[in-house]
Amino acid sequence: MSSAKKTVAITGGASGLGKAMALRYARAGWGVAIADLNDERGEATQQELNDLCGDASYHHVDVRDASAVEGWRDAILERWGHIHVVVNNAGIASHGGIAESSLEDWDFAIDINLMGVVRGCKFFSQTMKQQGYGHIVNIASMAGLIHSPEMNSYNATKAAVVALSETMLFELAPFGIGVTVVCPGFFQTNLAESTRSPDSHAQAHVSKMLATSDITADDIADQVFSAVESKQFMLLPHKSYRNTWYWKRFMPSLYNNKMGQYGVKLAGMRRQPKE
Ligand SMILES: NC(=O)c1ccc[n+]([C@@H]2O[C@H](COP(=O)([O-])OP(=O)(O)OC[C@H]3O[C@@H](n4cnc5c(N)ncnc54)[C@H](O)[C@@H]3O)[C@@H](O)[C@H]2O)c1
Repeated sequence: MSSAKKTVAITGGASGLGKAMALRYARAGWGVAIADLNDERGEATQQELNDLCGDASYHHVDVRDASAVEGWRDAILERWGHIHVVVNNAGIASHGGIAESSLEDWDFAIDINLMGVVRGCKFFSQTMKQQGYGHIVNIASMAGLIHSPEMNSYNATKAAVVALSETMLFELAPFGIGVTVVCPGFFQTNLAESTRSPDSHAQAHVSKMLATSDITADDIADQVFSAVESKQFMLLPHKSYRNTWYWKRFMPSLYNNKMGQYGVKLAGMRRQPKE
């Protein structure tokens, strides 16, 4: 089959930013394929997308499963005949100090936040190379650029996604394939539900942080849509976090001071009272 419509594939498309991006592309008249683990939300989102564009699909895909990701890519090709944009968005929250976090939680975060993106990039870039066009969007985080204490595996996986994206930018450009890496700060979604942490208060803490945002998933989805159109590589949607990143690069002593103070504050909160 081949369709005249442009097609976007989005992992983690049943909730939060993935869903907002799916709706953004559906409103622009694209064919939209979403993949997720949450079938209830996935099917409800597919319905909303079909009401908008009449041309959406939902597949149950775990990005930890390479053959499921590859099979999903093939199903999209079968239905639409081409893929213009893939968004590797599926992710989970992880939190905890290096001494306390379990190695199982590290493996879980790496398998989804990093290897899930790697699998999407691998299989979709194969198709895009054959087509001679396409665009890959990887959802990293400001945590990939600014590394706060007690965010070990989240920071490390998101920094790796930034590095992978930059590598692909120069590797895939000669094949007509664009790359965008998105580094948002906190914004309101269902991300806190997925939190892995040795700290039983972590989910409530993550929820509180998500609620601090002055921009929404829809705002970020609009920015991603424009960044793909203009082939912008790095997108930092939050102004406040952009400023912190500039401090880190251009005023490192100020940045180190502030981050050091934050580390001391956290350590004070964690220290066990002495008998
Ligand atoms: N919300 C924030 O503050 C924030 C900030 C920076 C980056 N991000 C990133 O944005 C992306 C989207 O997160 P969100 O905030 O919309 O959260 P969300 O929880 O609302 O959405 C994530 C979706 O990914 C799906 N998912 C999780 N594991 C999966 C797997 N193994 N296979 C397939 N699907 C899976 C979930 O079911 C969910 O529908 C993530 O990569 C996250 O790290 C979020």
